[in-house]
Amino acid sequence: MVEYFHSNNFVLYKGDCIKVLQGLSENSIDMIFADPPYFLSNGSFTCRSGKRASVKKGDWDIGHGSIKNLEFHIEWLKECKRVLKDNGTIWVSGTYHSIYQCRVALEINGYHFLNDIIWFKPNAAPNLSCRFFTASHETLIWARKDKKGKHTFYYNLMKNGKWKEDSLKKDGTQMRSVWSIGTPKPSEKLFGNIRHKSL
Ligand SMILES: C[S@@+](CC[C@H](N)C(=O)[O-])C[C@H]1O[C@@H](n2cnc3c(N)ncnc32)[C@H](O)[C@@H]1O
Repeated sequence: MVEYFHSNNFVLYKGDCIKVLQGLSENSIDMIFADPPYFLSNGSFTCRSGKRASVKKGDWDIGHGSIKNLEFHIEWLKECKRVLKDNGTIWVSGTYHSIYQCRVALEINGYHFLNDIIWFKPNAAPNLSCRFFTASHETLIWARKDKKGKHTFYYNLMKNGKWKEDSLKKDGTQMRSVWSIGTPKPSEKLFGNIRHKSL
């Protein structure tokens, strides 16, 4: 495993996720957050800075058909399950291009579904064709490794915390399953676009 960066109790590994996960001990991880490829780079177009731009994120984003894409999701989710503790949970994000396959792959691996969250993007890019609804959300699936496990849920913190950016969240109310969060700000992209660099 290649240690890309570390400081105090934090380590960032860089490499193929299957190999990195295989290097970790089983039942050792409390929570996994994964944003796997959406397999969008198929010659279609998007809107970037108000202009039509080709969707070409990198070779890793080229789909190889429904069956192969599903097999990929089944494989990495299987490795995640091995390293998760019984009470551990996993978050998987995606758009309609990928998230339903991830849901099936979670089920095939025997995860226990907990919630899906709609991440509403109030500043989503417009739809240039004007023939479809403007894509303005992603879906996050939250699942637990084991049906009988007990997951951690910070109910009071979420209910009583201050979520200024989220215009849908009212102070003192239960956290709902729709979150309003803008797309990354320029201050979060100081090191530019790294999506074309290889693993
Ligand atoms: C949807 S993008 C995630 C983008 C990320 N959330 C961000 O804001 O930068 C999917 C990422 O998975 C990485 N990736 C694709 N296949 C991989 C693999 N087999 N192992 C590890 N990472 C992989 C790609 O390099 C890409 O950065």
